[in-house]
Amino acid sequence: MSNYDFVLGLRAIRGYGEQPVSSEHMTAILEAARWTGSAKNRQDWAFVVVTEREQLERVATCGHYTDPVRNSAATIVIVEEPGGYEFDSGRVAQNIMLAAKALGVASCPITLHHSDRVSEVLHLAEGRSCRYAVALGYPLPGAEPAVLGGRKPLADLVHWQTYGGSR
Ligand SMILES: Cc1cc2nc3c(=O)[nH]c(=O)nc-3n(C[C@H](O)[C@H](O)[C@H](O)COP(=O)(O)O)c2cc1C
Repeated sequence: MSNYDFVLGLRAIRGYGEQPVSSEHMTAILEAARWTGSAKNRQDWAFVVVTEREQLERVATCGHYTDPVRNSAATIVIVEEPGGYEFDSGRVAQNIMLAAKALGVASCPITLHHSDRVSEVLHLAEGRSCRYAVALGYPLPGAEPAVLGGRKPLADLVHWQTYGGSR
């Protein structure tokens, strides 16, 4: 698979086996998170790795569509330190997912809608916030989405020079 096809082929996968993510793979995934670029290279983020079943259950109560967290072998919760940007958290999530895929680990981005609950569950100090996490695990056979979500055509998305401008 070319690098280009690898990037295009990244999918959210929600079915994981019970096998824990190996320490070697988790460290490599966290390294990829650490090396993500951030605004002014401030790296105003922290990563909470959740592997204990009861704590995964608690994290799962923090959002609306969190079954992947419940079913995951591990979930990395991305914390914005004071001054952090949501854009940076998005980049971290994508790096985590790409690194995981490279190692044969499936992943799904997760929205944690209930910020107060997240703070309580993770014991976040004042000024820290969290909206996103990535659920991880070795994929169950056939866990790839059967029907891939399509994408809008480029013609509906791309404008040249100005919004509405054509090539
Ligand atoms: C910012 C963001 C938040 C998401 N939150 C959730 C979520 O809470 N639960 C979930 O199951 N999937 C979540 N997803 C996964 C999307 O549903 C998925 O990426 C989208 O349907 C496209 O599917 P694909 O990534 O497999 O192509 C999220 C994706 C993004 C980018």
